Amino acid sequence: MSTLVVIGTQWGDEGKGKVVHFLGKNADYIVRSQGGNNAGHTVILPDNRVSIQHIVPSGILLKNKKCLITNGVVIDPEVLFQEIGQLKKSGISVKGRLFISESAHIILPYHKYLDELHERARVRIGTTKRGIGPCYGDKVTRLGIRVIDYITPHIFYELASRNIREKSVILKKIISRKKIEYETYKNYNKLRNFIKPFVTDTSLILEKALKEKKNILFEGAQGTLLDLDFGTYPYVTSSNPVAGGVCTGAGIGPTEIDIVLGVTKAYTTRVGSGPFPTELKNELGELLRKRGQEYGATTGRPRRCGWFDAVIVRHAVRVNSITQLVLTKLDCLSGINPLKICYAYRYKGKLIKEFPSSREIQANAEPVYETLPGFDGDIKGITDFNKLPINARRYFRRIEELTGRKICIISLGRKRDEVIVIDNIPPWF
Ligand code: IMP
Repeated sequence: MSTLVVIGTQWGDEGKGKVVHFLGKNADYIVRSQGGNNAGHTVILPDNRVSIQHIVPSGILLKNKKCLITNGVVIDPEVLFQEIGQLKKSGISVKGRLFISESAHIILPYHKYLDELHERARVRIGTTKRGIGPCYGDKVTRLGIRVIDYITPHIFYELASRNIREKSVILKKIISRKKIEYETYKNYNKLRNFIKPFVTDTSLILEKALKEKKNILFEGAQGTLLDLDFGTYPYVTSSNPVAGGVCTGAGIGPTEIDIVLGVTKAYTTRVGSGPFPTELKNELGELLRKRGQEYGATTGRPRRCGWFDAVIVRHAVRVNSITQLVLTKLDCLSGINPLKICYAYRYKGKLIKEFPSSREIQANAEPVYETLPGFDGDIKGITDFNKLPINARRYFRRIEELTGRKICIISLGRKRDEVIVIDNIPPWF
């Protein structure tokens, strides 16, 4: 029995979907514990179809796995309805396999309008405009509507009408109260009836699974640098994608977590605004974007691309207690010579080795690089570490040295089995 947390060590989009798909084959339960449909977990199915899950754990694509959406997640019922419909169309049944926490919070149309308004009126975060921040905001200010409230009509109507009354005052610049009411209530009955059969106390399911010594995989969304507490605040998401978020987001204690796998792209990307010290605003950045197909899985926005930043990954290793790393997209670096890795920043003449909290330093820190020789050739399909070009192995080893963690898996392509499994792997796969 093991519990394994898969988290992102950068700004999201590290390839967690594929890693979950690969490791999930030996899991009994796959759990989403934070975030919402701002996430986009891309999985390439055996018949080459691309499947992107935004809210249902991507483990649903694996046969017979039980999938949980626990209390720390925010759920847009409309999106859930569409996503499950899409799964059904692809022949994937969720019946008896998907469980949704009564305590997860519900995203309603006014949350999305508030996201839009905040982007216009406050700092431009570059949010996905899915209503994530305003929904978590309501949760924290105790105005939220949980799943259990949503499926109880008299409570839902009472809470929703109170919230609409309040929020329509600030939203009036972009939408009328009448229209918000219409959008909130128009599909309510259909969506409530749809969601109801999935609703349960997911923490009890987890307790039972732990007692029965099942394998549980927690599928992280976003990444450490988008964490509300440990990321590039305020350019972050509104939940805690760090490993600790699994405890509050799913209802298990820290002593129940065995392994924390940090997924790390061989270079760095970011979508949305905010500091990005190693960003390449040149042809090389373009080349990485093309090679890695770096476009947001949720919004389609081009991702900003840059060199590998060991400062942020070291920070992620620390704040998540990462036990091992998984390196993704190493193949995308082939033919780039030389390669650079940022090992520290320089700010006002000072060398900084730990990720700074100051927004001023984050925005103006200059990356300090070391240079490594590049490698050539198509390395996809290689399954033996020793068959990788020597300079690819050097790059890999240098990442291990600079981050202080062993890499247990290298992902070299989009398909599930395009991986090199090295060592120190979790005991159950
Ligand atoms: P929000 O989560 O939609 O509020 O967006 C806040 C910031 O997090 C924006 O910069 C988004 O682009 C970014 N973000 C949110 N979810 C993801 C994700 O799954 N991958 C990458 N970036 C994300």
